[in-house]
Amino acid sequence: MTDLVKLLHLVAAIFWMGGMAFMLMALRPAAIALMQPPERLMLMGAVWKRFFPVVLVSAIALFATGANLYTTLFRAIKEATGQGSVPLGWNLMLVLGLLMMVIFAYIYGVTYPKFKRAMTSLDWPLAGQAAAQVHLLMVTNFTLGWLAIAAVRLVR
Ligand code: HEM
Repeated sequence: MTDLVKLLHLVAAIFWMGGMAFMLMALRPAAIALMQPPERLMLMGAVWKRFFPVVLVSAIALFATGANLYTTLFRAIKEATGQGSVPLGWNLMLVLGLLMMVIFAYIYGVTYPKFKRAMTSLDWPLAGQAAAQVHLLMVTNFTLGWLAIAAVRLVR
């Protein structure tokens, strides 16, 4: 059962991190190279409209499976050693993962709606500003995600 939960945890992480990698390293630079602001902003909006629900599901799955793994493995460690301590890397993953979720909630609940409102009123400078904010927050989450993965694999 733990193996299945861990697999689901990995699948959700791959969807979220892989999507951000593609967006930041391929899609956005290509759009900047080939398109001017109104079309570029429309493309990014159409992409986010499809990608953000995927992130929402991934984040919920990561939290549910992560909490399950943490508590199950914590109990197993306690039974085996008599001590209730987990590797520091797990706690780092918990904190960094929660931070990523808060940042995504801010993107989805504040910055992205601001972008959509600006697009509806054809306010390209404001839409561009909101898009730049989404980008910055996404870079932050991408960095935190790799730190969380490095922590869980390397910090004992
Ligand atoms: C509330 C958030 C989270 C909690 C409580 C959590 C908890 C855990 C736990 C307990 C493990 C197992 C560690 C082990 O067996 O040594 C794990 C593994 C892992 N987690 Fe998380 N996690 C969370 C969020 C995330 C996020 C946001 C990502 C992606 C960026 C992620 C990616 C991974 C990966 C790649 C592994 C390694 C799986 C393996 O070793 O096979 N986790 N996590």
